[in-house]
Amino acid sequence: MSSTVSVFKPDVFAGKVAFVTGGGSGICYGIVKQLMAHGCNAAIFGRRQKNIEDAAAALSKDTGKKCIGISGDVRKLDTLQEAIKRTVAEFGRIDFVVAGAAGNFLSPLAGLSANAFKTVLEIDTLGTYHTFKATIDELCKTKGSILAISATLHYTATPLQAHVSAAKAGVDALIKVIGVEYGPRGVRANIIAPGPIAGTEGMDRLMPKELVAEHTRAIPLQTYGSIDDIAQAATFLFSPGAKYITATTLVVDGGSWHTSQSVGGSGVYPDAFLPGGEKAFSKL
Ligand code: HXC
Repeated sequence: MSSTVSVFKPDVFAGKVAFVTGGGSGICYGIVKQLMAHGCNAAIFGRRQKNIEDAAAALSKDTGKKCIGISGDVRKLDTLQEAIKRTVAEFGRIDFVVAGAAGNFLSPLAGLSANAFKTVLEIDTLGTYHTFKATIDELCKTKGSILAISATLHYTATPLQAHVSAAKAGVDALIKVIGVEYGPRGVRANIIAPGPIAGTEGMDRLMPKELVAEHTRAIPLQTYGSIDDIAQAATFLFSPGAKYITATTLVVDGGSWHTSQSVGGSGVYPDAFLPGGEKAFSKL
């Protein structure tokens, strides 16, 4: 992960504990690393035992804080409940929860079986609910905060992503209600909606290489984001600076969802919108 200079004090999260599903790789690995770099300990949760244990060891080594890796499946509430017991036994508390485990593949509706649709909803939406259910009592004790990693693809009708769009729309709705219902108990709940982020397995697998240049042109900031961009946003949302922010979404996408489908409906950012392109309008 390329890391930018942090605007946060290095010990802003000293004494805190994070629990992160999907923390063994990709965006959520970047988030937990950034949280630990600011002083907290962590537990990461994922399906592949060796992977999650190796990731935890690397996080501990790189940050000098303690991370434990726990294997389980967000589709199974009991595995999350066991993980929370272990995390509390190890660290005594949980302050920050990231619901980041997700499943994705491209498929037209015509090729999507009922089980395929159900599988993604179970990982993303039910998994986020399970994560909430397993951690909320601990978060009420610490007046902690929960963050879901959603997406922007369901803001417009994204082809080949009906299953993921339905799942992420459910995640967004769930988190907002958690924010509203648990606000009076001091718990905040928010969403980060990443746009196109380079260096993730999901993006490498799902975005055909030959479309990257054209896709990048559809982004107002003209570049893919980095894992660090998402980690910085997460650090802010868990920080005391965000203490009045709940039940909302922080979109971190270079402005791309505004243009990816809507500019001429083509997914391409026209030359006329780039610097110097205004000349095209002067003829009007
Ligand atoms: C159609 C598919 C399919 C595909 C799986 N299925 N892949 N259908 N096209 N490409 C169907 C299977 O045939 C099966 O249905 C059902 O989905 C369940 O598949 P399993 O392989 O049995 O499930 P499982 O082993 O639990 O795997 C879950 C998974 C898998 C989501 C399908 O891809 C996975 O675990 N991926 C790793 C996590 C991941 O994707 N991370 C990336 C997140 S990136 P049938 O009917 O045959 O039983 C992200 C943002 C990316 O979220 C944004 C980019 C634009």
